[in-house]
Amino acid sequence: MSSTRGERRLLVRDLVQLATPAGNAAPLRGRALGDVDVVEDAYVLCAGRLVEAVGRMRDLPRLEGEIEEVDGRGLCAIPGLVDCHTHTCFAGDRLEEFALRAGGASYEELHAAGGGIMSTVRATRAAGELALAEAVRKHRGWMLRAGTTTFEAKSGYGLDLETELASLRAVKAAGGVPTWLGAHAVPPEFDDADAYLDFALAEVLPAAAEIAEAADVFLERGAFDVAQARRYLAACAGTGLGLRLHGDQFTEQGAVPLAIELGARSVDHLEATGREGVAALGKSDVAGVLLPASALFLGRPMPQARAFVDEGAIVALATDFNPGSAFCESLPLVCSLAATQLGLSPAEALAACTVNAAHVLARSDQRGRLAPGYDADVTLLEAPDWRYLAYHLGGNLVAGVILQGQPAELG
Ligand code: NIG
Ligand code: FE
Repeated sequence: MSSTRGERRLLVRDLVQLATPAGNAAPLRGRALGDVDVVEDAYVLCAGRLVEAVGRMRDLPRLEGEIEEVDGRGLCAIPGLVDCHTHTCFAGDRLEEFALRAGGASYEELHAAGGGIMSTVRATRAAGELALAEAVRKHRGWMLRAGTTTFEAKSGYGLDLETELASLRAVKAAGGVPTWLGAHAVPPEFDDADAYLDFALAEVLPAAAEIAEAADVFLERGAFDVAQARRYLAACAGTGLGLRLHGDQFTEQGAVPLAIELGARSVDHLEATGREGVAALGKSDVAGVLLPASALFLGRPMPQARAFVDEGAIVALATDFNPGSAFCESLPLVCSLAATQLGLSPAEALAACTVNAAHVLARSDQRGRLAPGYDADVTLLEAPDWRYLAYHLGGNLVAGVILQGQPAELG
């Protein structure tokens, strides 16, 4: 077998196992979520930035021409992980608040008192564009070391024209998928949420829509209500942005019906969703993005993941990486939480943070599977079985990452 297009080829050989969501359909829902193909004693052949072939070593054809080889002995290959919900662009930290929460203060109380998200807004506004770009690059390195090869990241810690656009540019420059979270909180220079939205939609949206792929809103008590979220998202949809919602994190405020009404890509969080919301999401084409690291970090109830899957919902998993509610960039840890707290199997967890997460980012034809024609993004786990991904709680299993057909520097 020789490369037809003369691209650089890379062979990962002698893998203990290769595991990838089965078939080529996306998204996966219901029982199909748990269908994973496992190949023992496997190889992955990359040509240029794509996967050319995967299979068993004994079926590997004779390869001609120059081939770079990666020794896969002792390793399992899975698709590069896809983090479809992060807040990677921020300055400063929330360590003091974390300590206060450990002493009993609640996240919502801190937010209502002008801390929480607004304290990160103050630090992010003060940082300047270069520092923000550096912060995203640093966090991107952390994610890569945890096996994430595709990441979405939201603005939402600027809430002014300059910092929102700088945030979106920083995400894009680091190779991320930018989402404009223009409706994250109401900054203090505005009297109320409606006055802030007047500004954001008139002044920020036109430029944000040139950089971002989607828009997001925090629909919650103390943030934006359903009428405000509808107004914001409808205006964003008018510019061609995909729609996402932070919904049902603490209270049900109508996020699921609104997402269905507007044809949103996803509602994210869903810790507080009741039975009707679960059933409605299950019948819809709106994905539910579950963020168990956030529920864990805030000591909140976990989302009803099993019910969402069993009702047929499109379920994805993500970290929600941010300084306040989920200071965690590890999708392997999220997979462990999925298995131990959410009642998902390791196979369901894998599909939820690969193919289904890629679907949320409108990339399921390129990302989220190890199969010919997909982008050659591969995460290599040092483990005797790929399910160690979920089994090894807090383990540091990522031995290497192939990014677009090339071994990545993990630093
Ligand atoms: O997804 N809930 C709203 N936004 C983020 C948290 C942001 C923050 O606390 O800084 C979330 O949890
Ligand atoms: Fe979030």
